[in-house]
Amino acid sequence: EQGVGGGEEYLFKIVVIGDSAVGKSNLLSRFARDEFDHNSKATIGVEFQTQVVEIDGKEVKAQVWDTAGQERFRAVTSAYYRGAVGALVVYDITRKSTFDSIVKWLDELKIHCDTTVARMLVGNKSDLENIREVTVEDGKNLAEQEGLFFIETSALNSSNVNSAFEIVIREIY
Ligand code: GTP
Ligand code: MG
Repeated sequence: EQGVGGGEEYLFKIVVIGDSAVGKSNLLSRFARDEFDHNSKATIGVEFQTQVVEIDGKEVKAQVWDTAGQERFRAVTSAYYRGAVGALVVYDITRKSTFDSIVKWLDELKIHCDTTVARMLVGNKSDLENIREVTVEDGKNLAEQEGLFFIETSALNSSNVNSAFEIVIREIY
């Protein structure tokens, strides 16, 4: 990372949203620290991590915010979304109900952020192909319909995790 004045000019707030246990916190820990937790607990309140990403030779700071999927653990929603320029909207490919919730999360995003926010639909847990309930085609179709980017990831084996964040950052940048 460059010193003060170097990488400081680009700071992008990105929010991660989606139902409980889809893997939001693990996507963030994989991206920011290259860590995965098999026994991670449900997030309570809000956490964020900052990660420097190099885009076209320039250092960009991504401040990624993570909150609880469970309503009762969520903090003040408007504060969570304030200033966000990118969003990862996450479901779990092994649980159809989490995919059905995506429209609800997109509605919440629309209420709190303006339409220019870069949005990525993320189907997480692609390592669990054997118990998949949502096809790649389902994901693609929804993304196309809603005008989102689309990617499938695995926080467990790292597949596409950096790409998911970098595509959003690149779109904002
Ligand atoms: P809330 O904080 O309650 O909203 O949940 P979350 O979306 O942050 O989920 P979390 O990251 O805590 O992960 C939930 C469970 O899924 C944990 O047991 C993780 O180990 C597991 N998990 C997360 N990502 C993956 C993945 O890519 N593959 C597999 N197999 N398991 C995953
Ligand atoms: Mg969490």
